Amino acid sequence: MAKTKSAKKAPAKAVKPAASPAPGSSAPAIDIGIATGDRKKIADGLSHFLADAYTLYLKTHNFHWNVTGPMFNALHVMFEDQYNEQWTALDEIAERIRALGFNAPGSYAEFTRLSSIAEEPGLSDAADWREMVRQLTVGNEAVCRTARKTLKTAEAAGDDPTVDLMTQRLQVHEKTAWMLRSLLQ
Ligand SMILES: [Fe+2]
Repeated sequence: MAKTKSAKKAPAKAVKPAASPAPGSSAPAIDIGIATGDRKKIADGLSHFLADAYTLYLKTHNFHWNVTGPMFNALHVMFEDQYNEQWTALDEIAERIRALGFNAPGSYAEFTRLSSIAEEPGLSDAADWREMVRQLTVGNEAVCRTARKTLKTAEAAGDDPTVDLMTQRLQVHEKTAWMLRSLLQ
């Protein structure tokens, strides 16, 4: 959600309590060499990242459906490439949260609460391709900022798989932001 001055709220809680074994379960406690507190911080960052990435995915798919004008064909195809790539990546993020021992957010209510990207509904009524491209440019950059923050948290805890995942997502979203911005220059 967009942060507004008038509607300040406490930081969203991203992750649910660690998935501890049910009573009577024979599952061993998680012991992958990262302290529980660090795993929680990383899972929290990844949950914010997942919410941002999902919101951007949906927005990109929306614009694939609703874009109009002389740029229709180019943008319709470009947005399709982007949302397909983004959709595939969501699964990797959610499963990394699970591997760290926490539940991944998976509802629109949670994503709305955790995302830093505004939904800005109603744009499809006034389908203006330039505004769509502008929103996707800033949306991709918002995803980059969340990835960068999560990468630092993971790096400090020696969580190389999450560092690698965030690095890959940064490469994609930074390149996408550049390509989208180029359309407006
Ligand atoms: Fe389609």
